[in-house]
Amino acid sequence: MPTPPATSVALPLQDSFGREIESLRISVTDRCNFRCLYCIPDENIEWLPKGDLLTFEEIVRLARIAIELGVRKLRLTGGEPLLRKNLPFLVEELAVLPGLQDLALTTNATELVRLAEPLAKAGLERVNISLDTLDRENFARMAQRDALPRVLEGIDAAEAAGLTPISINCVAIRGMNDHEALDFAELARRRDFEVRFIEFMPLEHGHRWGEHSLVPGRELRERIQERYALAPSPDQDPHAPSRDWVFEDGSPGVLGFIDSVTAPFCADCNRIRLTADGKIRTCLFSLREHDLLAALRSGEDDAQVAARLRAAVATKELKHHITDGLFVKPERTMSQIGG
Ligand code: 5AD
Ligand code: SF4
Repeated sequence: MPTPPATSVALPLQDSFGREIESLRISVTDRCNFRCLYCIPDENIEWLPKGDLLTFEEIVRLARIAIELGVRKLRLTGGEPLLRKNLPFLVEELAVLPGLQDLALTTNATELVRLAEPLAKAGLERVNISLDTLDRENFARMAQRDALPRVLEGIDAAEAAGLTPISINCVAIRGMNDHEALDFAELARRRDFEVRFIEFMPLEHGHRWGEHSLVPGRELRERIQERYALAPSPDQDPHAPSRDWVFEDGSPGVLGFIDSVTAPFCADCNRIRLTADGKIRTCLFSLREHDLLAALRSGEDDAQVAARLRAAVATKELKHHITDGLFVKPERTMSQIGG
């Protein structure tokens, strides 16, 4: 493949709209042990062949190059990242990269009883746990696995291992779990967690998404506010996708609202994604990918790979088109992209 010209590494990794890229989300596998109805609803899935996955060595090399270009935050995702064998070993290698400021992981928590401690020892700082319902039967329906007790044990293990503050990601889907908003708020208060409600985005398998299934974050917040007075968090990070609220009565816990559809934060987006098979996606909704796996395996040197990364970032999309009629759904689902 033709190599883009090498450029100076002193320039920040910037897109054509002036956004500086500081965050790289790395998917380490497309596999998952759940079958969340909105993500991987079918049992017969064709996973990526092993040989198409980036090796740990390739992941560390790409992460190092990205950090040399200005990336400060790494987040490991999947599928379910803890299904990737020896993940603590990868964490250990990433955690010591000079210039890295934040290393985190998004997981469904099923493997945390076994792995929370080794991950913390390897240098992981925090975990985000995907948890859409606190009701065992509803969980078995939504994830198609009766795994809530195991997930709750995993959360306890993460807390005990110091992977804190614990953040819970809850994708709200009308008629499925939106009636549990208050239960989640109470979980945040009781355990001093950050619970983040994520608006359902059209990245699902099939055609479940629609105006009817989306629950605007504002609606959930207003429902919670009928019971607990909330105030905007004084510690709001302007680049974070979630708008954070705290309890006015001084209770522990934070509620975050990621209103990706009704209040997009594309203008502040500072992230790109690397799929498990080595493709850069500059947006969740990108229709085009940039193949770094092929570049690495054809023997390109660091400067050439860095130039590819820059060239990819230069194409980062201005915004998503979910609500303006121009939307084209990407072929990959969230599990194949890595939230
Ligand atoms: N819309 C919003 N969030 C989603 N996730 C998976 N699919 C979707 C979707 N269509 C979430 C998962 C997890 C994170 C990685 O992304 O629940 O919390
Ligand atoms: Fe697995 Fe997460 Fe998709 Fe559920 S949402 S099937 S836990 S990747």
